[in-house]
Amino acid sequence: MLSFNNVEFRYSNQIVFTDLNLELDEGEFAFLIGKSGVGKSTLLQMIYMNLLPTSGYVRVNGYDTSTIKPRMLPHLRKKLGVIFQDFKLLRDRNVYENLSFVLEVTNASKKGIKKKINDVLTDVGLSHKRLNMPDQLSGGEQQRVAIARALLNDPILVLADEPTGNLDPDTSREILDILMKINKKGTAVLVATHNYAIVKRINSRIIKLENGRAYKAVIKKK
Ligand SMILES: Nc1ncnc2c1ncn2[C@@H]1O[C@H](COP(=O)(O)OP(=O)(O)OP(=O)(O)O)[C@@H](O)[C@H]1O
Ligand SMILES: [Mg+2]
Repeated sequence: MLSFNNVEFRYSNQIVFTDLNLELDEGEFAFLIGKSGVGKSTLLQMIYMNLLPTSGYVRVNGYDTSTIKPRMLPHLRKKLGVIFQDFKLLRDRNVYENLSFVLEVTNASKKGIKKKINDVLTDVGLSHKRLNMPDQLSGGEQQRVAIARALLNDPILVLADEPTGNLDPDTSREILDILMKINKKGTAVLVATHNYAIVKRINSRIIKLENGRAYKAVIKKK
């Protein structure tokens, strides 16, 4: 479903990846770890093709960085749910409106939109806060809204870039539990993080970035 093939990536003044090779299967769960500045966020951006390799190619669900046309990007991105450390909610809209905003550009019916929002809010356990504004929610709740938003288009892959970066340990665990639950329902999940406490807790594949390449990593469980 996802592969990096001999990928080189450089920003104008800096090389980040030299020979990156990586595959992720349908329905897989993996952590992406590595020191700050190693290229985790850059790697995720190549998956949603916000950045393109300077050599080699990335393939995502049949789309290929070496052949994709700008008009195809929205189709690719509909298949991907993305979550960030800082939630990126619209401050002037309530929870429901933050979600309906995403679906309004599709041609879903009002009733279909309502049902979908209900479903994703149930998935993250937040149906009762549907009319709250973002600043009336805790950090963990805001991240749950962001996860719900990422699920609206039934993605095949959820990408999370340091999703627990602004959260305390207990709340971080809750967020990871939700991502695991989503994975159990069949969606692949890739979580970039340097929060080793959450990585240790979960038995899953760990991809470590180092020296411009990806390695298989094992972390001792507590
Ligand atoms: N827009 C940019 N222009 C130039 N260099 C960049 C740009 N964005 C990132 N970099 C550099 O590329 C490298 C990889 O950055 P990236 O943000 O992918 O790292 P990261 O692993 O996500 O780090 P962190 O754990 O701190 O989030 C870093 O050295 C960074 O300084
Ligand atoms: Mg980063």
